[in-house]
Amino acid sequence: MASETAPAIILNVDDNEDVRSFRTLLLARSGFEVVEAATGGEALSLLKRQEPELVLLDVNLPDISGIEVCRRIKSDSSTNSIPVLQISAAHTTDFDRIRGLDNGADNYLSSPVDPDVLIATVKSMLRLRRTQTALQREIIERERSQQALRTTHSLLRAIIEASPLAIFALSSSAVVTSWNPAAERVFGWLQTETLNNTLSIIPDDQKDNWSKLFTSVLWGEPITGEETVMKKADGSLVDVSVSAAAFDSDSAGSGVIVIVEDITHRNQLQAQLRQAQKMESIGTLAGGIAHDFNNVLTGIIGFADLLLSQINAADPFYNPIQQIRKLGDRAATLTRQLLAFARRQLLDFKNLNPNAIVTDSLKFLGRIIGEHIDLKIDLEENIHTIHADVAQIEQVLTNLCINARDAMPGGGRLTIETRNTVLDESYVSNHPGAKAGSYAMLCVTDTGLGMDKSTKERIFEPFFTTKDFGKGTGLGLAMVYGIVKQHGGLIYVYSEIGKGTSFKVYLPAVEVPADAVIPSKTDFPIGGTETVLVAEDENAVRELVVAVLESLGYKVLTAKNGAEAIQLFEGRADEIDLVLSDTIMPKVGGKELFDVVRRRKPDLRFVFMSGYNVDAVGENAGAIANVDFLQKPFSPVVLGRKVREVLDNRKE
Ligand SMILES: Nc1ncnc2c1ncn2[C@@H]1O[C@H](COP(=O)(O)OP(=O)(O)OP(=O)(O)O)[C@@H](O)[C@H]1O
Ligand SMILES: [Mg+2]
Repeated sequence: MASETAPAIILNVDDNEDVRSFRTLLLARSGFEVVEAATGGEALSLLKRQEPELVLLDVNLPDISGIEVCRRIKSDSSTNSIPVLQISAAHTTDFDRIRGLDNGADNYLSSPVDPDVLIATVKSMLRLRRTQTALQREIIERERSQQALRTTHSLLRAIIEASPLAIFALSSSAVVTSWNPAAERVFGWLQTETLNNTLSIIPDDQKDNWSKLFTSVLWGEPITGEETVMKKADGSLVDVSVSAAAFDSDSAGSGVIVIVEDITHRNQLQAQLRQAQKMESIGTLAGGIAHDFNNVLTGIIGFADLLLSQINAADPFYNPIQQIRKLGDRAATLTRQLLAFARRQLLDFKNLNPNAIVTDSLKFLGRIIGEHIDLKIDLEENIHTIHADVAQIEQVLTNLCINARDAMPGGGRLTIETRNTVLDESYVSNHPGAKAGSYAMLCVTDTGLGMDKSTKERIFEPFFTTKDFGKGTGLGLAMVYGIVKQHGGLIYVYSEIGKGTSFKVYLPAVEVPADAVIPSKTDFPIGGTETVLVAEDENAVRELVVAVLESLGYKVLTAKNGAEAIQLFEGRADEIDLVLSDTIMPKVGGKELFDVVRRRKPDLRFVFMSGYNVDAVGENAGAIANVDFLQKPFSPVVLGRKVREVLDNRKE
């Protein structure tokens, strides 16, 4: 079809050349573009190519009659909108006119026709045709936009149906007008129960707030991500994030659409994460203090011991010094507990059977727990092996059992269980810090007092205790926490006031059989004549070690730091039987010294003295051959025993 502004193309069909030319002239003069055809066939084929806006059609044509041509134009959907003006000189009766119009002609004129009438008729027909076209276009356009609207509507419906977020609409009078499946899931109210009713998910104490909020949203102030609580069908509360905006609909007036996200789970995860971060930062602080304390204590305890060994019990200074020694021990124990919490202990990892640890501990646990408590043991038969430090796991078990005992002053039942457990991905996604895999679970359950929420939140903090002054230090569970974490494990507590408490400790399983026996401590002769190289930057510690070793008969070479030690070693490697070194020293540390020694004399025994410096020698330091550790603070007896034992190549 020609554009509105271009001159209209008119197909002028007549077999009489004179008549045809005359009409062409007339039309061209009035500004039309004219295409001519002399026969019906020609007219029909031109029609397709030229797309005229009007056909001027003679009735008498040599091949196909004008009446038939008109019929064909009108019966073809691609051409039937083109107006046909039939003109005839031969058929001029009313009957002819009627026949022409009946066959689809839009107008019928008898020839000869007044030129002005012809042009006026053509123009009027074109006007009509253009109006019709515009109308048709508008109808198509309207249909198209209605289709688009239907698509958008069904898309929106699908989104609302499939949304994981609860979505509902309220009328301006706060009546529910729509309620999606997620809303059914979140609140437990079915669509059929809510539609045309007022909301039943607002807790009583939130009703005023909610109606204010609803009004302001309705007045055009949308809200996004407002955190609050709502009520489920079963009466329980749910943490939610609410967004809402007003909408207008012609049929139902204005209303409010509300989108609700259930954030209970998210809040729980956040709380767990905050808790973990809190423990992490307390650990850093406690570990830092304990580390420095350790060095001080090594000196205090060591010198007290040295003095005690040089005076006899009748000496007036003996008792005061013994007091110093005792207090030093007490401080050392606290420090070690703090180090356990801070996950800074040197661990002696072995492949262990958790059941064996429980069974071995029972001997002394029974005594600690007392007879008023019924002890029940429930062990998984083929329990997974764990890679752990036996003394530490015993400590965990002991601390948990003591707490359980204290929670059951009037008696009760204490159950110790072991279980093989798999933590899967869904568990892990709900427990920050957990890793999926196989675990051996150690569970200690009591039927005691239980704990409230606020106690439960703090039990792993060092120095948190609900026990009377002097009864508890609040370090028991802090140690347990640190030990479990240092073993790559997890600990969870379940407790209800009046019902009891259950601690579950998950330790990663290893796929190797447990080591045959847990080696026991043997008696020891101390003293010797071998040569020991001592490297220690802390004066107090170094002087103590040297004094102790010399008093035991050893030959001692001393170095104030790693560099000095290396120099000494390089010069006298052949004489040296053992190296005793601090792990952290300025510039050249214990590890570097160790590497130098190892290169030169791979079999030389090496003892690291350390309070906690796992990092300095690597987590798996225990696994390096011919390396031993001496935990600071240590007493002279422990030092002497360790040195003798290592030189005799015995392993404790
Ligand atoms: N089985 C339990 N039942 C009830 N409450 C417990 C239980 N275990 C621990 N608690 C609570 O956790 C607190 C902290 O325990 P934790 O073992 O760390 O310290 P403590 O027992 O108070 O002192 P410490 O163990 O240092 O002697 C306890 O004071 C008690 O309130
Ligand atoms: Mg305790």
